[in-house]
Amino acid sequence: MARLTIALGQRSYEIAVEAGALDGVADHVAPWIKRNRSLWVSDSTVAERHWPRIAAQLEAAGVAAALHIVPAGEASKSWAELARLTDWLLAEGVERSDTVFALGGGMIGDLTGFAASIVKRGCDFVQVPTTLLAQVDSSVGGKTAINTAAGKNLIGAFYQPRFVLIDPQVLSTLPPREMRAGYAEVVKYGLIDDAAFFEWCEAHGADVLAGHPDALHHAITTSVAAKARIVGEDERETKDRRALLNLGHTFGHALEADTGFGERLLHGEAVGVGMVLALHYSARRGLCASRDADRLAAHFQACSMPVTLQDAGVTADGAELVDHMRHDKKMAGGTLPFLLARGIGQTFLCHDVDLDDVAAFLDEAHADAR
Ligand SMILES: NC(=O)c1ccc[n+]([C@@H]2O[C@H](COP(=O)([O-])OP(=O)(O)OC[C@H]3O[C@@H](n4cnc5c(N)ncnc54)[C@H](O)[C@@H]3O)[C@@H](O)[C@H]2O)c1
Ligand SMILES: [Zn+2]
Repeated sequence: MARLTIALGQRSYEIAVEAGALDGVADHVAPWIKRNRSLWVSDSTVAERHWPRIAAQLEAAGVAAALHIVPAGEASKSWAELARLTDWLLAEGVERSDTVFALGGGMIGDLTGFAASIVKRGCDFVQVPTTLLAQVDSSVGGKTAINTAAGKNLIGAFYQPRFVLIDPQVLSTLPPREMRAGYAEVVKYGLIDDAAFFEWCEAHGADVLAGHPDALHHAITTSVAAKARIVGEDERETKDRRALLNLGHTFGHALEADTGFGERLLHGEAVGVGMVLALHYSARRGLCASRDADRLAAHFQACSMPVTLQDAGVTADGAELVDHMRHDKKMAGGTLPFLLARGIGQTFLCHDVDLDDVAAFLDEAHADAR
């Protein structure tokens, strides 16, 4: 069992990582239970697989547990589901001192966190992430949001949870493709500023994906520690620090936009390809060696993850992909800061990237694949 802290002054909180934690869930969440009752939010898939044993334990501990089920899938990060969830919380008589528990992947975490931030001007919430992506990334750091017609995550708030409870064993029911998508975000932390961790990933990635307990524990705790450190330094992304977590995301979002933000290309898959593109583009600008980009691509390939535009099913040309980037919420004053690398573990934010040059690079990437 590991306990990590995210240091944010009065908003500081702990992240507990323990295999089997959900089998002792009543004890873990006891500090957050008020008036012997608890309010839980989950999606239809996760609730079916994991709610019965959680409900049974809470009941055994004498804690009443009410559950609100949201349809599984990214489409539920919507105004409609936000309204249904906040109506439910109010109907349950939620008070400001109550805690709402988010049991699910990033979709549930983002939706529930945002609901908690606005209901009665804010009540407490606790994250119980059930996907690898949520355990290593979205459950920590306090970004909450829903999607709108204009784009993803455009309506939301910075709102920190009070506690994050991570049980790696819950991943045993996660589909392998979702596991690989989350793994891309694990590798991201090595690429950002920890070359030794990237090397560890090369040696142990297969064990992580296979759910080997020790490997999974190390991957999760290392990732969470990295995220906690970066968020602690720059909670609201006002310095260049937190932006590092977006490595691969500018390319990735363009690929997601082209493939419809859904099943065709999962977020983590897009980020994985996006990181490979970011390293290739860095090499093209003479910032890092081509072999660094090749090394990343080789690792993802060994993990059966997509690495090229072709693997990602992207057909749009460079100009169309760059057009998607122009709609990025990080666009400022007509330019877009880009995360590039001077090598593995040496990511930095570059402010002088010419989007036409990126378009030309993407056209070359298409041509190379042919
Ligand atoms: N807040 C942040 O900092 C942050 C960071 C990254 C991503 N995100 C957001 O997270 C979302 C993506 O998260 P995600 O990949 O976890 O998606 P998700 O929550 O939609 O989960 C993916 C799928 O896995 C299923 N699932 C979840 N846990 C399971 C389990 N244990 N067993 C079986 N099935 C399970 C879900 O029902 C769903 O079908 C996006 O909306 C993204 O914008 C937020
Ligand atoms: Zn991401």
